This record gives sequence, C-alpha cells and structure tokens, in this order.
Amino acid sequence: MYPIECVKYVNFPTIPKDVIDSMIPSQADLSEAKERHYISTHTNVEKLNNWGRENIADSIYLNYQILFNDVPAHVDRNTKSKLLYIVEAGGDNVYTNFYTNEKKTELIFSTIIEPGRWCLFEADVAHEIVGMDKDKMRLGITGQIFRDFTPSTRPQPLTGLYDRQ
Ligand SMILES: [Fe+2]
Repeated sequence: MYPIECVKYVNFPTIPKDVIDSMIPSQADLSEAKERHYISTHTNVEKLNNWGRENIADSIYLNYQILFNDVPAHVDRNTKSKLLYIVEAGGDNVYTNFYTNEKKTELIFSTIIEPGRWCLFEADVAHEIVGMDKDKMRLGITGQIFRDFTPSTRPQPLTGLYDRQ
C-alpha cells in the first residue's frame, strides 16, 4: 500500500449510456488525440452537462479526454484537482502512476482506475498513463466545480497537453 493516494473514489451516480453516447468527438479530435496521445475536448458536451447539473452539482462543468498509446509524466496546467470518470480504460492493465516530479524521481502512487466510477484526481501531482493497448482509445470524463476548465486562450505548444480551442 502507498501512504498517499492521489485518486479517491466518490459515490456520485453512474452516467447513463445515452449520455455517454451523446459525446461524439469530431474527426479532428480523434486525429489529434492519435497524433499527440492526449486531447481534452469540448465537442458535444451539452447533454453531458445537463445530466451533470441535474445529478451532481449545479455548478459542474464536464468535458472529456481521449488518450492513445500512453501519456508521459506531466502536471495538469489548469487545475489542482479534478473529477474523473473513466468510460473506456484502453486496456486491462492501464496504470496511472504519480511521481514526486515530472522527471519521475520517486513513485508516489500507482493504480488502475476503475471504469464506470467517479473519482477525485490530484492533477497537480506529476502523473503518467502507462500500459494502454496499442491504438486503443482511453476515454475519460473530467469535471470541475470551482471553474469551467474552458480551453486556454494562451498560445499552445506543439507537443504536450492542452485543451482544444
Ligand atoms: Fe493529466
């Protein structure tokens, strides 16, 4: 066991299938996710957010992330923590590993996040996603209650993690 757990499950309701099915990424989303390993997208999130406001919190903002072929260690730029709900894991042995820093000096916590459950995720601790099946999509819904987590208007790097504009 690890002394620190950077993922904590919360008992928010399961997201219905029709809500999940309404989150249809654009072709641009999918091709960018394959190219960059990760995108966070706001395409077709209206039904998801209506459900979230009725079932979790008035002020919640939900969108989703698409991952391919693992994601290297990084710290999320926009938030300290986030709600996360994995819809599709991208494999049976996909680990989220947390480290003391982005150079991975010391492993803090390692876990397979259970699909179909809400958790709180310590996004300001360096983390990586490893063990994904080749070219298999990992789909996760992320939620913010204190702020909208809308796409950044800053210039974006060519590589790395960012929200689509
Ligand atoms: Fe992240």
